[in-house]
Amino acid sequence: MVRDHLVCRMQEADIAGAVDIWVGQYKKYCCSSKSFPRTWIDDTSMIAGFLSKKVHEGAAIVVKSDGRLLGYLAYDEFPFHEEKSVFSPSIAHAAIDEHKEEAYLSLYECISKEWVGRDVFNHMWTIFFNDDKLRSILFDLGFGSYVVDAFACANDVVAGNSFHRIRKAELSDIEILSNLAEESREYYSSAPLFLKRGRYSIDAIAEVISNSNIFIAYEGDNPVGFINVSVSTMDNIIELSSINSGLIDEIGVYVKPEYRGKGLGKALLKCVFDHCRSLGIESIHVDFETANLFANKFWRKHFDPMLLSLRRTVNKDINDQRINVKGR
Ligand SMILES: CC(C)(COP(=O)(O)OP(=O)(O)OC[C@H]1O[C@@H](n2cnc3c(N)ncnc32)[C@H](O)[C@@H]1OP(=O)(O)O)[C@@H](O)C(=O)NCCC(=O)NCCS
Repeated sequence: MVRDHLVCRMQEADIAGAVDIWVGQYKKYCCSSKSFPRTWIDDTSMIAGFLSKKVHEGAAIVVKSDGRLLGYLAYDEFPFHEEKSVFSPSIAHAAIDEHKEEAYLSLYECISKEWVGRDVFNHMWTIFFNDDKLRSILFDLGFGSYVVDAFACANDVVAGNSFHRIRKAELSDIEILSNLAEESREYYSSAPLFLKRGRYSIDAIAEVISNSNIFIAYEGDNPVGFINVSVSTMDNIIELSSINSGLIDEIGVYVKPEYRGKGLGKALLKCVFDHCRSLGIESIHVDFETANLFANKFWRKHFDPMLLSLRRTVNKDINDQRINVKGR
């Protein structure tokens, strides 16, 4: 690590320079797909607003050399799966290419000391998926893949063909969807994903049917899968989707195990693309855990990964050990 680097709290005066560095990184790593929203570089006011809030919370630091800004890092703190956690979304950090490694190592060394000092052991970052250098820096620090945010152009052709009947869900389909959603919850909690999702109440399912579009696939009268798409009503600074994008979220997509691998998922996806096109929507967003073995293969067929979230869990006994060493 280069020791003449100075790490200190970010000030309002640093924000414009920080945003410039971020925009440079976006242009470098997010030009590979026309499905990635450009809103974020066309209008950077939301990013500057986010950083300003973090400056006031004292949750943003910068690294400088001879007064020159080399990089910055800001974060949110919240409980994640009941564990005290910190999260630095993709807009909340960047460093200039020339000093990327030293800048990130200096920032993380400084901030992780604060986090762990407050017993925050779960550290999460989102980076640009194509930023191999930062991915490697974080890998060496002990981070591993967690979630991918990916986008597709609604105008792209999905050649979905299936012998199954697919129709749009109505409120009378609550019970069918409730059963399929419950089955999908069991899938998410299984190995190697281990993702605990809350149970969907009948009211919650009714709300999803009313506020978004769900397509259900049948074999005969037997419901065998579904997909859910809604339309975003605002720009989302965390996943970088823009207003009026298609969002495959809420209850997502699910095909019963015995019907997988036969083109049904693709046929459901075709309904989503057709629906989005009919509404004049250009971009569709999805996120998925990289440990979801099916999703990790399926989505990459039609969606381009834009963001990668990584996670590190610090040994939870570290602060006990410090007390013991001091007390010895
Ligand atoms: C993800 C899921 C909906 C895919 O449905 P499916 O009916 O099996 O998918 P399809 O047969 O239509 O496959 C579509 C494409 O993805 C590929 N694919 C799907 N699953 C794959 C796997 N496990 N390994 C490799 N490729 C896979 C297929 O080869 C096919 O490629 P092609 O378009 O080049 O022919 C299904 O596996 C599922 O319900 N999984 C559990 C729930 C889940 O993970 N949901 C996603 C949450 S983010």
